[in-house]
Amino acid sequence: MRILFVCLGNICRSPMAEGLFRRELQRRGIDHLVEVDSAGTGSWHIGKPPDARAQRAIARRGVDISGLRGRQVKRPDLDAFDLILAMDAENLSDLMALADEEQMQRIRLFMEFAPERGEREVPDPYFGGEEGFEHVLDLLEAAAQGLADHVEEELRKAGRLQA
Ligand code: 4NP
Repeated sequence: MRILFVCLGNICRSPMAEGLFRRELQRRGIDHLVEVDSAGTGSWHIGKPPDARAQRAIARRGVDISGLRGRQVKRPDLDAFDLILAMDAENLSDLMALADEEQMQRIRLFMEFAPERGEREVPDPYFGGEEGFEHVLDLLEAAAQGLADHVEEELRKAGRLQA
């Protein structure tokens, strides 16, 4: 199973989502069954490490994303991944504009996996302060758990995981 997280810059939200989701998969012992990546719809930060504030905030929760590098989402990604998860409505519409009808079925908002939070989007923390990153991490952690539940269910259905 292959999952791609997408935001605008690929230096704040989607690398943090990738880091938290990887840890959730490791905790559940299913990280070897899932491929995870992240990308941005924009091109400004290609090859750049995650934003220093994002690295610090997620490090306080025990996750190291310093090795990640920004990349831009490209059309082949829409075939290469089973789920393409947008952080906000703008990311979603940018992805949909690249996609054909079949690919559109695999593009969703990440916060759909944490309906209990009552938030549809992960807000862009780039132009705000440190507290914005904490809020984003809270949302991402909740959605990462919901997504991991969904992935486990899919793996069970596919016979890759014991019931
Ligand atoms: P991200 O945050 O989409 O969560 O990575 C942003 C990073 C950079 C910019 C905007 C959002 N920017 O305008 O450069």
